[in-house]
Amino acid sequence: MCGIVGYVGKLNAQNVIISGLEKLEYRGYDSAGIAVIGKDGMNSAKFKGRLSVLAKYLEEHPIEGTIGIGHTRWATHGVPSDENAHPHFNKDKTIAVIHNGIIENYLELKAMLLEKGYEFRSQTDTEVVAHLFDFYYDGDLLQTAFKVENAIRGTYAILAIHQDSPNEFVALRCEAPLVIGYGNGENFVASDIPAVLEYTREVAFLENGEIAHVTANNVTVYNTKKEIVHKKPFTVEWSLDAATKGGYDHFMLKEIHEQPQGIRDTINNRIDGKGYIKLDDIKLTKEEIQKFDKIYIVACGTAYHAGCVGKYAIEKLAKIPVVCDIASEFRYRDPFVDNKTLVILVSQSGETADTLAALREARRKGARILSITNVVGSSIARESDDVFYTWAGPEIAVASTKAYTTQLVAFYMIALTLALAKNTISERTYFMLIDQIKQAADILEEMLKDDTQEKEVAELIKDKNALFYLGRGVDMQTAKEMALKLKEISYIYAESFAAGELKHGPIALIENGTPVIAISTQEPMIEKMVSNIQEVKARGAYVIGIASEGDNLISSVCDKVIYVPKIDDLLAPLISVVPGQLIAYHTTCLKGLDVDKPRNLAKSVTVE
Ligand code: M6R
Repeated sequence: MCGIVGYVGKLNAQNVIISGLEKLEYRGYDSAGIAVIGKDGMNSAKFKGRLSVLAKYLEEHPIEGTIGIGHTRWATHGVPSDENAHPHFNKDKTIAVIHNGIIENYLELKAMLLEKGYEFRSQTDTEVVAHLFDFYYDGDLLQTAFKVENAIRGTYAILAIHQDSPNEFVALRCEAPLVIGYGNGENFVASDIPAVLEYTREVAFLENGEIAHVTANNVTVYNTKKEIVHKKPFTVEWSLDAATKGGYDHFMLKEIHEQPQGIRDTINNRIDGKGYIKLDDIKLTKEEIQKFDKIYIVACGTAYHAGCVGKYAIEKLAKIPVVCDIASEFRYRDPFVDNKTLVILVSQSGETADTLAALREARRKGARILSITNVVGSSIARESDDVFYTWAGPEIAVASTKAYTTQLVAFYMIALTLALAKNTISERTYFMLIDQIKQAADILEEMLKDDTQEKEVAELIKDKNALFYLGRGVDMQTAKEMALKLKEISYIYAESFAAGELKHGPIALIENGTPVIAISTQEPMIEKMVSNIQEVKARGAYVIGIASEGDNLISSVCDKVIYVPKIDDLLAPLISVVPGQLIAYHTTCLKGLDVDKPRNLAKSVTVE
């Protein structure tokens, strides 16, 4: 979704803002713009397209000034265009506003403003905010911001500057993330930490309803009652390098290779001296765990796929029934959630609007809320009773990879903890699984040294229109995730099926040369998979197997096999998903597409 950067200080605002927006490119956008106040007043530029278009223009037509705001827009109201790009201005261009989110009552506000004689230049909801600032402005930008906040409804992160107050800007937050970066003689507000990390490590998140008044030497935050809120900044530990490509061609490839470390970081710090799992941020007692009669896992996209594997792990180990639900559906179907339900929300970003809405619905129904997220201090983390942070480091590529494998680790660890509290697992199995999760990191590191086979598969499928993934048990969940990876970045139509379900309909899609990827890591189901593979082969499919080392049955029926090291069946998704990630990556590279920023997608989906 949209990226926001605001700066006031001593440096050239244009450079700070463009470099900050570059760090937010992962969020997905279709246009970019900037407004800076200099000695000659407000200057601005905004264009449809990549940030590089704006940056190039600014190289040739630099804007001077030490205060400014910049934005990358992901279109909601109005097509991507120069006019709809942010900032938006009042009539005489003394006020500039940028916004992430949706102003839900914009039509009503627009009607009121039109009646007062305001003219609109864009189709956006945001433009009403610029005119509202003009309408309420009485010489005091902060007081104006309070009035604007009172008038608007919806989700927003808004920054506003006024030419007549060239030493300050205001930031308003409701549901869309904003982080304050505290500098020395300079201050920042942005949509995410990487945008400010080059300049400061001291940051604090704005909460819903808060307004920040920002000058070079001070940041004052107010709540809705106009009382001062004393923010306690925290220090960001991870490096800017963690948020840049570090020598890889793409963020996605870098993040695939960071999976072993992500797994280690997620598990190693959570094992006590005696080898037991200790989940510091989870305050659930043994008695509370024993009280749960069901669990809901709720998430979107890849996080949902991790949740589907989590269901297998929890049901198998802790013997608690689990429903895995898509967040955008959960709250509209009156789920059976009460105070005996544990609801686990999964979200890499911690800001996904659908997942946040599901969290609030679960809270309303009295459930205990546990979230698995990668972003410390994110909205979902803050609104949860308990949090499991995946220590994957910042994930920039739109296609989620290391977040997925660390989410799987989180689920295995939560399942083991629940199982121990409920006495549904032997200590032997408990320690064996912990050991194998740790080993998975080393296994992945070895596997990632050679991706020749995945490149060969990419060559085979790059010109195909459709591809199918099959699996049984947890392999079916891996198949879902692999299909999502391929379709979202290579734009090849990819679908996954439970292998046993094929003959009930989908097998009609198989014709001569249709590529099928069959995942088979589950020992008790190998023979059944062999039969399902033969069914598609008999109809002309070209079958690529992904099987555990030592399995000769699968190789006897496939056209090609990628072997993955053998690990406990339940943990297999941690390993077997990686060939699928690499196949998607290499196919996309061969097609010459934008791996990290696929069309129509945003990294952080902050609208419902
Ligand atoms: O930040 P979240 O984990 O809540 O995001 C959920 C989905 O939007 C995300 O996983 C999406 O499906 C990815 N593009 C998948 O690669």
